[in-house]
Amino acid sequence: MLGAFRNLRRLAAIGRVLAQRGALFPLEGVEAGRLLLSLLRPLMDGDIATLRPGQRLATALQRLGPSFIKFGQALSTRSDLVGDEIALDLSELQDRLPPFPAIEARQIIAAELDRPVEEIFSHFEDVPVAAASIAQVHFAVTTEGRDVAVKVLRPGVEDQFARDIALFYWLARWAERLMPSLRRLRFVDSVRAFEDSVTMEMDLRFEAAAAAEMADNFADDDSFVIPDIDWQRTAKRVLTLERIAGIPIDEVDAIVAAGHDRDQVVAKAANAFFNMVFRDGFFHADMHPGNLFVGSRGELIAVDFGITGRVDKQTRRFLGEMLLGFLNADYRQVAEVHFAAGFVPADKSVDAFTQACRSIAEPILGRPLNEISVARLLGQMFQVTETFAMETQPQLLLLQKSMLVAEGVGRTLDPRINMWQLARPLIEEWMIGNLGPQARVRESVGALVASLESLPRLVQQAEKTVEALRSGGLRLHSDSLKGMGNSRQNGIFPAWVPWVLVVVLGVLLARR
Ligand SMILES: Nc1ncnc2c1ncn2[C@@H]1O[C@H](COP(=O)(O)OP(=O)(O)O)[C@@H](O)[C@H]1O
Ligand SMILES: [Mg+2]
Repeated sequence: MLGAFRNLRRLAAIGRVLAQRGALFPLEGVEAGRLLLSLLRPLMDGDIATLRPGQRLATALQRLGPSFIKFGQALSTRSDLVGDEIALDLSELQDRLPPFPAIEARQIIAAELDRPVEEIFSHFEDVPVAAASIAQVHFAVTTEGRDVAVKVLRPGVEDQFARDIALFYWLARWAERLMPSLRRLRFVDSVRAFEDSVTMEMDLRFEAAAAAEMADNFADDDSFVIPDIDWQRTAKRVLTLERIAGIPIDEVDAIVAAGHDRDQVVAKAANAFFNMVFRDGFFHADMHPGNLFVGSRGELIAVDFGITGRVDKQTRRFLGEMLLGFLNADYRQVAEVHFAAGFVPADKSVDAFTQACRSIAEPILGRPLNEISVARLLGQMFQVTETFAMETQPQLLLLQKSMLVAEGVGRTLDPRINMWQLARPLIEEWMIGNLGPQARVRESVGALVASLESLPRLVQQAEKTVEALRSGGLRLHSDSLKGMGNSRQNGIFPAWVPWVLVVVLGVLLARR
């Protein structure tokens, strides 16, 4: 009972922030919602008029704290749920918070490593280089004299997250109870998936292990460098790694001024990305410019392994087939691999699906080469497979988002070239290597069918370890809200009732 009251109060405060930031726009889809929005208009901050809906949601989530920032990031991989525009705006969610005091960072380090900071580092820089929702980074020098970067978990972030996740579960349970018609959206499972991924991100030993694994994968490749982990100075809440020096990858003028060839840099980035995805099946899923640097030899350096994704070999073959099909404008092949992979039920028409593939691809692939976005193409493909009754694998969605970011980085570096030109030989080579010397791409479809019995199980596994929310979470399109509004005959209350409650309570209870 007390818990319920606490949850309601917290919910009220959240409703209020959403109203202030104009982030209740999904309510526009139902009549009562529009009425409510007009009542709430006076609450709105003055500066939001010029912002897009996704930007307003992003600022609201940022104001609500770490769990909500992570929630927004998870949602940003789900353009299938929230639409392209909102997903894009959410992916620009600033994961920056004011730093916490260095004294607290020192206390955490000492407690985690069981020694005073002075015995661990001969110098510790009290001013952090960066502060984000989960951790902040300080530069330091080890007692052996090595320059390092020390990532320290934000104090209290685990408790805050535990509190917020309890609220998310509570909400999810109520939603499933009050709106049986929406049970198929599996709110509770979605919350569990989200909890798993953030829990991993909050254990810096996992991040250290991810960095070490990727460093192993690229041990023979000096064009892509990952800083060494100092395991003796790493624990759940502290990660110590070799300090790297480089120019942030989006500072194009500085890169050119330092004498690097930007086309080479793009080529290295494309290579690294496709090696991660196809060769290793283990990829950095947060390759935005804040995490990528160009070193003094022109090598690429990556930091921040908090979010990574995996693609099993079966799925890699599927992806390779599909991408090559698209790049060769062979839509029949694209369609066939989808059927072979069981992503489209066998009773649907291959011809109709081929046609759907063409309708998506031609407008995108018909553009000048440097404007082609294969990530967009993939995103739209996933939406189509969904309408053809297949749930998309969360790992593929994470990959698609990472691809979008990688393309953006490539374009910033040199708008004239397209990473797909660079990537194509690499994917082809991988496909040939993995399908036997005489395998023709089309024949491989047969091979794929033969080895796909395990796919449903793989899909299930991937679902368990999702970084993002499941397919079928809450859609923010106002169209789907309309759909929810119409679903009243299936539930005790119309679907918008809880929304309204949240906001009303917000106005009544929240204090300024
Ligand atoms: N090994 C390192 N060497 C130098 N700077 C680093 C290193 N690791 C992180 N940084 C700096 O700290 C910032 C934040 O670190 P990051 O691991 O990306 O944390 P977050 O998960 O908070 O984004 C990076 O953008 C980079 O500027
Ligand atoms: Mg980062």
